[in-house]
Amino acid sequence: MEISPYKINVLVLGSGAREHAIGWKIKQSDKLNKLYFVPGNGGTKDLGTNINSEINDFESIKKICLKFKINMLIVGPEGPLVNGICDFFKNDLRLKNIIFIGPNKLCSKLEGSKDFAKKFLIKNNIPTAKYKSFNKSEIKEAKLFLDSISPPYVIKADGLAGGKGVLIFDDITKAKFEINEMLLNKKFGDSSKKVIIEEFLDGIELSVFLILDGENYIILPSAKDYKKIGEGDSGLNTGGMGAISPVPFLKKSFFKKIKNKIILPTIAGLKREKINYSGFLFIGLMKFNEEPYVIEYNVRLGDPETQVILPRINSDFLDLLIHIKDKNLNNYQIKIDDRFASTIFLVSGGYPKKYEINKLIENTNKISDSILFHGGTKSKNGSLYTSGGRVISVTSINKTMNDAIKISTKNSEKIKFEKKYYRGDIGFDL
Ligand code: AMP
Ligand code: GLY
Repeated sequence: MEISPYKINVLVLGSGAREHAIGWKIKQSDKLNKLYFVPGNGGTKDLGTNINSEINDFESIKKICLKFKINMLIVGPEGPLVNGICDFFKNDLRLKNIIFIGPNKLCSKLEGSKDFAKKFLIKNNIPTAKYKSFNKSEIKEAKLFLDSISPPYVIKADGLAGGKGVLIFDDITKAKFEINEMLLNKKFGDSSKKVIIEEFLDGIELSVFLILDGENYIILPSAKDYKKIGEGDSGLNTGGMGAISPVPFLKKSFFKKIKNKIILPTIAGLKREKINYSGFLFIGLMKFNEEPYVIEYNVRLGDPETQVILPRINSDFLDLLIHIKDKNLNNYQIKIDDRFASTIFLVSGGYPKKYEINKLIENTNKISDSILFHGGTKSKNGSLYTSGGRVISVTSINKTMNDAIKISTKNSEKIKFEKKYYRGDIGFDL
């Protein structure tokens, strides 16, 4: 398949607000010909064509790519990456020339296996919480290890668990019970065949994002997300309830530490181990005692972080992605807007537990000073309905963080659907 030097057809894989934001950004490029989403949502259909398919059905995605003459595939969520979609494309004669945005299966283990990520961090002297990993035959050792450390106890399933695989306990009895649940009773299926127990780091979280082409990398804007469902960071973990970019406490001196102690050793480690990393890399960090520690690597962009990062990139983002093809990201000049972006997620009442869908969404057409990135929405007979837990991410940009948040909050109030919920305190700790 020849790639036109002028305009290309792009397929974005996924159905969240992150994928809507990616589509929104590349839609602004004059290098774009046609834009497709698999499966997309009620918002993405206004930017391009939604095509229904399971995102882990690689044969089906292959057919779609061939039928619509796709030149670039951008993978939003981690699942297909960890399952090897990149390798599937690279090993197929008819697909291998498609510009593939996302790392291969080996690289994706940085997110797909916490034990793999921890071993990488430690081998490369990158600061991270102390840890040990245990499998089913080591339950006794796992409990003895818990006895030897002090609370809070951080217990993680090794594999992907949809953001639910990390549990933190003050009570050792509960922690030991959880070890049984994960290792013996397969609480997270194969993902908890192995568990990680790690030291608790009592700090403030932030994330940095890179894009790599296997040789070079570019640092994207930083962000902080709000994972808890309740105000004041209380209650259950969610996929993310809101985000801010840039991170106000990420001053030059702290950024220098992140670059020297985290980013450069990560890049050097990938090179040393000949892990040919191409795609986005999301580094979740904890600022603890004025030092950065890696909490996790993700092999994709974050949701809702993307909804505050991409609106702050002023240069042609599709052009940036095209540079990955020839491994010449070093020739790309990224331009970043120094204003603040905030996003607030409107979610279905009950989320992250059981929630109802099919609620009519009103007033989205009355919003002019925020960008609405759809997650769980679908369009039916010309109207918009909820179809998931995280429904719409309301992004605003302003010179000050507080004004950006104020605008997102005002518009979050304006949009109506039954049992809508959102956090009114995004940014409260900054
Ligand atoms: P993860 O899926 O590894 O990002 O973990 C989910 C959340 O658990 C993180 O965003 C942190 O809030 C928290 N967490 C994970 N590891 C630790 C740790 N070692 N110390 C304190 N909090 C942690
Ligand atoms: N917002 C966190 C994530 O995308 O993993």
